Amino acid sequence: MGIDFAVIGGTGVDHPELLSKLSRERVDTPYGMVRLTVGEVSAAKVAFVARHGEEHSVPPHLVNYRANIWALKELGVKKVISTAAVGSLESKFAPGEFVLVDQFLDFTKSRPATFFTGEQGVLHVDMTDPYCRELRGVIAEKAVEAGVVVKNGGVYVCTEGPRFETPAEIRMFRALGGEVVGMTSVPEVVLAKECGMCYAAIAMITNYAAGISATALSHQEVVANMALMGVALRELITAVLKVLTPERSCACPQAPAELGKF
Ligand code: HPA
Repeated sequence: MGIDFAVIGGTGVDHPELLSKLSRERVDTPYGMVRLTVGEVSAAKVAFVARHGEEHSVPPHLVNYRANIWALKELGVKKVISTAAVGSLESKFAPGEFVLVDQFLDFTKSRPATFFTGEQGVLHVDMTDPYCRELRGVIAEKAVEAGVVVKNGGVYVCTEGPRFETPAEIRMFRALGGEVVGMTSVPEVVLAKECGMCYAAIAMITNYAAGISATALSHQEVVANMALMGVALRELITAVLKVLTPERSCACPQAPAELGKF
């Protein structure tokens, strides 16, 4: 049986507790080796990658995004659920809530952000729906059933990190339409899209962003809030994995990789 689904665990979700029958795997990719865990939820096989490494030792600007996504592509994964801690720019998104982001603003600076090296010719991937609508729909539906507050839709501002933002940057991001801010969704979502995988991000709001928050931000605050939200998050992801099927009627498979372009 193929491995159709994957979970990319962000801050606070570094271990694959939601899977059973775990086996440790190493996948070699052109970008380096990836250690991941394969396990099961009901009958479905699921790959789990800890984005920041199993010991949470890799900062956001140094994550090997291309290796992680390539490894999942090698395994044949079709649908990826990722988690991400974010700060909120808007009072309508409160700490303790989840958002299924649907758009991004890219303010990263120094990361390899594409598989397209130019050797494949000139390729451009469509970003109208960076985060798969169909997959978001399933997650939103299961969240309602599980009684977890999840808002479907939100604009994710991706910064380079690893520092937090200045209040002036947060004011600028708000003026540009940003709603939550984090450091990892780009290029992960872009690379998944280039590979034709459906990708959704469950953003966990751990804090109000700098200048909106009354106090200075700390990584400890983010991790403490994540721990509080972790149980609901794992339950939600498990409920989703139980009903996911490999079939797709979205536009994600129309990506260059699936069309044999690279
Ligand atoms: N900014 C950037 N990344 C984050 C934040 C934040 O406020 N909270 C959690 N991840």
